[in-house]
Amino acid sequence: MRRRGPATVLVFHPDEAKAYAALVRAPRARVRLAVCATPAEAAAAVGDADVIYAWKLPPDLYARAARLTWLQAMGAGVDWALVPTLPPGVTVTRAPGIFGPWMREYVLGWCLWVTQHTETYRAAQRERRWREEILPDRLAGKTMAIVGLGDIGRTIAAAARALGLRVIGVSRSGRPVREAERVYRLPALARALGQADFVVVVLPLTDGTRGLLGARALAAMRPTAWLFNIGRGAVVDEAALVTALRERRIGGAVLDVFASEPLPAEHPLWGLDNVALTPHISGPSTPAEIAPVFNDNLARWLAGRPLRHVVDRARGY
Ligand code: GLV
Repeated sequence: MRRRGPATVLVFHPDEAKAYAALVRAPRARVRLAVCATPAEAAAAVGDADVIYAWKLPPDLYARAARLTWLQAMGAGVDWALVPTLPPGVTVTRAPGIFGPWMREYVLGWCLWVTQHTETYRAAQRERRWREEILPDRLAGKTMAIVGLGDIGRTIAAAARALGLRVIGVSRSGRPVREAERVYRLPALARALGQADFVVVVLPLTDGTRGLLGARALAAMRPTAWLFNIGRGAVVDEAALVTALRERRIGGAVLDVFASEPLPAEHPLWGLDNVALTPHISGPSTPAEIAPVFNDNLARWLAGRPLRHVVDRARGY
């Protein structure tokens, strides 16, 4: 159902809708923007939208999106968009290729925080103590298991290898990738985890990954190993993780994502000394980085050509 006048693109972002909209490049005669920063604004515009360009559009709005043909997510994960209310014919596209370079620095930064004993030396400094009996550990020679080998996981793998880590991977297909020495299929997750000093979970949230890192997987980890979760919080069973951390059955955890965000103030994870928490910032979306992905797809959509980075809705990523 193509209309004669300009197509409506609904741009939704709670903080930066205007900045995303300002970078949309399309002929005025072809595209009209509805710039929405609140659910109420989006609710008023969604019935007219041919395209949605958004981050976490409230799921109840899709039921009213009668004209919608395409939704471009302003991020890597699309679990928030693949809800039952999203009309079946809508094409969903994501923004790959952007977050890996951010996230490899996050992962290696926090790995070095562990091995360089950053906290210990800073605490010693505050006490004016010369603690030469403590030496940094080496990352080189340690094993990192990356669970999820999409473009982000592989970018992290390449950077980790460059620092001399041995990198193994776990993925649904188990298909070999050049960035990892060996790739295990998901049913062999425990075998991979048992070898790792650092476990980096960068999986999309789907029916198949929800709670995947539960008590059994955590029990397969070495008592000194660190768990990093940078994909989606609900992939890790947080109650099982809190138990493992409290009982010191793993070395610790670096967590950027949580089942419920912002992490509630009373959540036990806040108080654990073997946990480092960050507020879902390991791979930030910025208007400047997402705009080229959207503009390329918008030009394709306007020309009736196939879109890039199309999500397999049945698979969930
Ligand atoms: C962020 O979490 C994203 O999906 O891009």
